[in-house]
Amino acid sequence: MTERVLVLDFGAQYAQLIARRVRELGVYAEIVPATARFEDIMAKQPAAIILSGGPDSVYRPGAPKLDDRLLASGVPQLGICYGMQYLAHALGGRVDPGTPEYGPAEVRRTDVEDPLISGLPEHMRVWMSHGDRVESLPSGFSLLLASDGAPCAAMGDPERRIYAVQFHPEVVHTEHGMDILRNFLYSVAGLKGGWDMGSFVEREVPRIQAEVGDGSALVALSGGVDSAVAAAIVHRALGDRLTAVFVDHGFLRAGEAEEVERAFTERVPLRFVHVRAQERFIKALEGVVDPEEKRKRIGNLFIRVFEEEAQKLGPIDFLVQGTLYPDVIESGPGQAAVIKSHHNVGGLPEDLKFKLLEPLRELFKDEVRQLGRELGLPRSLVERQPFPGPGLAIRMVGEVQRDRLDLLRRADLVVRREVEAAGVAKDLWQWFAVLPGVRTVGVMGDHRTYGEAVVVRAVTSDDGMTADWAKFEPQILQRIASAIVSEVDGVNRVLYDITSKPPGTIEWE
Ligand code: XMP
Repeated sequence: MTERVLVLDFGAQYAQLIARRVRELGVYAEIVPATARFEDIMAKQPAAIILSGGPDSVYRPGAPKLDDRLLASGVPQLGICYGMQYLAHALGGRVDPGTPEYGPAEVRRTDVEDPLISGLPEHMRVWMSHGDRVESLPSGFSLLLASDGAPCAAMGDPERRIYAVQFHPEVVHTEHGMDILRNFLYSVAGLKGGWDMGSFVEREVPRIQAEVGDGSALVALSGGVDSAVAAAIVHRALGDRLTAVFVDHGFLRAGEAEEVERAFTERVPLRFVHVRAQERFIKALEGVVDPEEKRKRIGNLFIRVFEEEAQKLGPIDFLVQGTLYPDVIESGPGQAAVIKSHHNVGGLPEDLKFKLLEPLRELFKDEVRQLGRELGLPRSLVERQPFPGPGLAIRMVGEVQRDRLDLLRRADLVVRREVEAAGVAKDLWQWFAVLPGVRTVGVMGDHRTYGEAVVVRAVTSDDGMTADWAKFEPQILQRIASAIVSEVDGVNRVLYDITSKPPGTIEWE
């Protein structure tokens, strides 16, 4: 049986990152709201539990609480930040409001030796983000690490296998964060590890077969990596009972529709239906400028088109979608804030006639790429940059119109070509053009121009949850800008977006 670590989410934006790190260390991890029922938590047979951070204070009335039975369950536990304060408070220690610490801090070891900190140096830089702090330890606990701002930076009770750290071991700014998590999983909890994409396929294929029974499925190919990999794994499970429907909504990048069709007729021999629905989508977006409204309308029409195709194909029971873990989390219903209703989750119509099959629901983007390679998809497809379901429609501020789409598509092609030619694509998460809907005055030759501005967006990221703008050499920016202005009629100005996420998002809408 697969070893499973549960991350109990107290409302942290970092819960996903904790789960990812655990998986990187070779153990399958899943996020569960901290308020889940004790019985439901135990039914998942967790091999270890990690309590996430969260925005609350243990003294605030209504602050999230765990079932006391969990602490007595014998399952090894690691509390992080609020998770630590919660454990200290619940087990009889004292938590007080201290001086808040945000950002880098230094922790030092005490003279206690413990498996959690085995192999770690005397001093380490860690990343803190807390208001309250633990002032006195519950009985049975030893102080393992201390800092100036948090006298108790790490504590542990080896007997009960309950541990806690005040800082965030999951973020890259914490030195030896991965070592602490590894020690917790392997030395404290005694896990065996070995979870990887091969074992994901072995587990997921029979699960899909059991869920679908002798039913049939339709996969929504969007042109992106996610739906392609979802199609490939469901095809492995169901073979001919899967039909791939590729809806061209008209918001794809240049050459994309052809590329998808080729990959799926040559490499993965699916029943492939190509629906050309450009006109319907443009019509559905007439006069719409609100980004969420664009996403909702596209999502709704997308599903309608599938329903129509399904009817033509005969009885279909399941709709496969390439929904990823970050999409699920950012759209709720967990504790983290709703940031965007990603079209393949939040925008689903209520009268949906299919059951949803989402084989990638538990995976992060880099895991999906690994899975795609594991399933034999072409590298060109698997390594492609992420592309949002609503496509170019949400990279164009204001109303979606044919001529603006055409202009954006050409500008985007130039950005892709120049970035790839410069050899920097491998370091990036996404690189594309945006039409901000701004016209400015310029001069070309002897003529005054009044043209569109194009924004170039290029970001580095591990998973799309946070991102930084790409620090291109000026010559690269120069080449991109010149090429756009000279090759794309109607554009006379190019801007480079230097906003990170947060505070921005990667997409403009
Ligand atoms: P944001 O703009 O929220 O995007 O920083 C994070 C990542 O998600 C992609 N994205 C989407 N993917 N459907 C998708 O499949 C969507 O509706 C959607 N919206 C954003 C975005 O390209 C980035 O990689």
